[in-house]
Amino acid sequence: MAKTITICFTNNKGGSGKSTTCSNLGAAMSRAGKKVLLVDGDMQLNLSLAVFPEDWVLEHAQGEKNLYHAIGKQEDLTDYIVHTPYESLDLIPSSTLMSSIEYELFTKWQREFILKKCIQKIKDSGVYDYILIDAPPTLGGWVMNILCASDKVIIPVEASPWGMFGLANMFEFLGEVKQIAPDLEVAGIVVTKVDTRKNYFKQTMETLHQLDNIHVFDNLIRVDSTIEWSQDNSIPVVEYKKSSRSAKEYTELAREVMDYVSR
Ligand SMILES: Nc1ncnc2c1ncn2[C@@H]1O[C@H](COP(=O)(O)OP(=O)(O)O)[C@@H](O)[C@H]1O
Ligand SMILES: [Mg+2]
Repeated sequence: MAKTITICFTNNKGGSGKSTTCSNLGAAMSRAGKKVLLVDGDMQLNLSLAVFPEDWVLEHAQGEKNLYHAIGKQEDLTDYIVHTPYESLDLIPSSTLMSSIEYELFTKWQREFILKKCIQKIKDSGVYDYILIDAPPTLGGWVMNILCASDKVIIPVEASPWGMFGLANMFEFLGEVKQIAPDLEVAGIVVTKVDTRKNYFKQTMETLHQLDNIHVFDNLIRVDSTIEWSQDNSIPVVEYKKSSRSAKEYTELAREVMDYVSR
């Protein structure tokens, strides 16, 4: 039985492409024959919205069967899994109450490891090849939980002037987390929302390649309105328009990430 690899997507900067990358990589991996579980760790519900329509997402976000309630009760997450309309792609939905998860964690024993404990049975079962966790744009106790529950972390970075702002804080935080989760590995940076016509993009790439000991994935994700249309329709772009540039880019990136994390 192959080992399940858990990858989270974090960056304290909002709008860097975390949810877009998490959902589309997951969908591309499942299309490549892998069994994938998406875990929506953000109150913005974007990962859930990537695979289900708004009515469905809000109903689940306001109900009991979501990540927030599982964490509150410290329950095994197996019962919280739902099948998406796509083969081999499952989801644990999020809740609008996720905004108060930090308070929920505060009084708990070993509070950094609650998600790790709740997800352990699913990992041990080996049912999934990949578990992908989408994180909110913060650096607190909940994101620490997400990192402690993960084997690898991918940092999506927007190729824009402010895209790299705050990256140093992110790396400092990762350094702290590694003290309590020494096996956590930074897989690397995925550069998103790239406009190759802009000179600024070249500068972003030069700066990123100069960072010490940080891998930058070769496959870039360019700006493409098909992504926005696919999200508007709650369908991953690799399913929405298979022939689109973004579908091809996410398919290639999924191949690269799968090779890289299992090397
Ligand atoms: N490659 C892309 N081309 C066009 N728009 C994109 C692309 N990637 C992300 N977006 C848009 O940028 C916004 C932020 O992306 P998102 O994945 O939600 O970032 P985060 O989860 O880091 O906050 C969303 O509105 C999304 O539709
Ligand atoms: Mg997001």
